Amino acid sequence: MAIIENWLPPSRENWNLLCTVWQYFPLVTAIQWLVDWYPMGKTSTESRFNIPGKIGWATMESVGFMTLLYIMFTLPKELGIKELPWWNWAMAGCFVIHYLYRALISPLFLNPSMSPIHPIPWLGAFAFQVFNSISIAGWIAGYGPSTADDWAGNHWAMKIGLVVWALGLLGNMFHDDVLREIRRAADRKQREEAKQSGKPLDGVHKVYLIPERGLFRHVLFAHYLCEWVEWAGFWMVGGWNCHPARAFLLNEVSTMYPRALQGKRWYVKKFGKEMVGGRKAIIPGLI
Ligand SMILES: NC(=O)c1ccc[n+]([C@@H]2O[C@H](COP(=O)([O-])OP(=O)(O)OC[C@H]3O[C@@H](n4cnc5c(N)ncnc54)[C@H](OP(=O)(O)O)[C@@H]3O)[C@@H](O)[C@H]2O)c1
Repeated sequence: MAIIENWLPPSRENWNLLCTVWQYFPLVTAIQWLVDWYPMGKTSTESRFNIPGKIGWATMESVGFMTLLYIMFTLPKELGIKELPWWNWAMAGCFVIHYLYRALISPLFLNPSMSPIHPIPWLGAFAFQVFNSISIAGWIAGYGPSTADDWAGNHWAMKIGLVVWALGLLGNMFHDDVLREIRRAADRKQREEAKQSGKPLDGVHKVYLIPERGLFRHVLFAHYLCEWVEWAGFWMVGGWNCHPARAFLLNEVSTMYPRALQGKRWYVKKFGKEMVGGRKAIIPGLI
């Protein structure tokens, strides 16, 4: 059953069109180089339209994996494909595992606090998820390789890609947790002080320190770097011709790179040049 005729799941013509348009997403992110307004996270602003951070992240990021799963279970039937090969499900699994963590586990269960999000970046992230998931799901649910023979190629590169994907995800989770620990530690300290002096708890909302562990010793956005490694591995699994995985990686880089540079300016302004030291924004020793 189609939710939106010829779009969910997409017809081949519509999928081709969407993938073509999606390749031009870096043009949209050019605005991030011109405008410093980015009302979420560290640079969130006061607005009565703001969405609470945890709910914002859960809703804007969940749409991607749900769309992908829906297409995985409907498009093959429409195309008369009885069973998709293991590698198609492996790629779907990579995508779903990442977004179960990013959209549900991280904001709703692990993060001590998250800054509010203005509806404009929320809508941008929601649209990113819709475009990206249809692009990837179309490829792995029938318009890309759909038989074991289609995958007959360099299985070593695909297996290495899976390992790179897993290492990237673990690195992303580890560095996310280094940031969480800053707020957990602040919370413990406040509780201790409150116990001893009877002071009321302030809460850990918007408590920031310079993270020190892991790759944070070299770059301020180590979690972003690991996410790039993760999706580079995903592209390796799909192979050089997997244009949706390539577009995903390039589109992430095009939006996260200016955000990391803006973040570095924010750290320098808040903590001073000396405290930031030789740390780069995202690539150790380079940028
Ligand atoms: N932003 C993007 O464009 C984008 C795109 C794709 C994937 N992602 C992935 O999504 C995840 C979150 O991205 P993000 O842009 O929200 O990252 P972020 O700005 O670094 O924030 C991540 C979390 O850590 C907290 N935090 C950040 N810096 C901190 C510090 N110095 N001290 C204490 N707590 C700190 C934030 O709290 P506050 O919310 O209160 O600031 C937030 O809860 C990352 O793993 C990233 O790879 C992001």
